[in-house]
Amino acid sequence: MRGLDFSGRPRERRRLILDILYEEDAARLENVWVLADEVRRKYVGDRVHLRGLIEFSNRCVRGCTYCGLRSGNRLLTRYRMSREEILECADLAFSFGYGTVVLQSGEDDELDPRWLGEIIDAIKQKHSLAVTLSVGEKPVEHLRLWREKGADRYLLKFETSDPELFKRIHPRRRPEDPGRLELLAALKDLGYEIGGGVMVGIPGQIYMSLYHDLELFDDLDLDMIGIGPFIPNIRTPLGREYYESKTRPPDQAPNTDLVTHKMIALARIYRPDANIPATTALASVDPCGFEGGLKAGANVIMPNITPLAYRSLYQIYPHGFFQSREETHNRIMHAIAAAGRKPAVGRGDRRRGGVSGNAPVSQPGPGNADCSHFRG
Ligand code: 5AD
Repeated sequence: MRGLDFSGRPRERRRLILDILYEEDAARLENVWVLADEVRRKYVGDRVHLRGLIEFSNRCVRGCTYCGLRSGNRLLTRYRMSREEILECADLAFSFGYGTVVLQSGEDDELDPRWLGEIIDAIKQKHSLAVTLSVGEKPVEHLRLWREKGADRYLLKFETSDPELFKRIHPRRRPEDPGRLELLAALKDLGYEIGGGVMVGIPGQIYMSLYHDLELFDDLDLDMIGIGPFIPNIRTPLGREYYESKTRPPDQAPNTDLVTHKMIALARIYRPDANIPATTALASVDPCGFEGGLKAGANVIMPNITPLAYRSLYQIYPHGFFQSREETHNRIMHAIAAAGRKPAVGRGDRRRGGVSGNAPVSQPGPGNADCSHFRG
């Protein structure tokens, strides 16, 4: 791992990345955190962009084997929020000073594209908020309509770059449907900022596959990259398989916060000007998750502003506890300060080539002694 020179030939770079992914020694890993932090500061600055997450529907027609919203999970009460409820969340995001709202749902086939288009329009008319959509694999005509109504960004994680593994965990509906990579390309053509990402530690996912994930972030020219640990959900086939520890190859990548932090750091080094969140998945397995993600190279947090009654039904994976929206907001503000950073103002669009006007925050934060593998 000497020197951390990422500019070498592809083979050398691959070796370096695999070395980092396998590395356990804290002192040697320190070089990775320092480099990712330098790149982060230089390209996207010290400010943390806040995107208010509105989980407006947990209805889903898909059968992804890892996800608790899968249609086969009959134990889940399903909901779709009303237009008024969604707009109230957008008002709250604005009052908290966030620059973006993220409208997220399961793949809800009965979602009327015009209904969602009108909500996007209403948010854009009322507030200077960016609108991000995260509603799954949708027909291109719907994506076009929402873009025309003012949607700015679209998140569609590809979960893993390994096509065989993806096929296993994400059954296709119809063979003729475009895959997620094709949809990301279509979204880019429509003028959306596009976000992709992966889970780390999916049963059957090997270290080498994580290296390919990083290459794919680059190939797709992603504007946003979301990386979280795979969290086994006992109400899903893959969650049960995880606990029965079948199908684990010898070089299985673990679903730890350490490997997730390494992937965030490497994504930052690969894609210096991308917007990279400290994900909710990370924060739900680790009380210092937001802070840890920020220290590893993230520059975005997505505070959950879904009303509590619905939030408890948005069970992608098991949650420890729920806080009110105000408590969530305060916890995130605390995590930002603890990481020595400040909340950003404005929409936080990707700035190609990085920022120069983003004034550095001079004082390093106090940190939190419980956040283990980062120093200081
Ligand atoms: N563990 C971690 N992340 C998950 N997601 C879904 N299920 C899980 C899980 N078990 C994430 C995926 C997906 C998004 C809806 O939530 O990345 O894209």
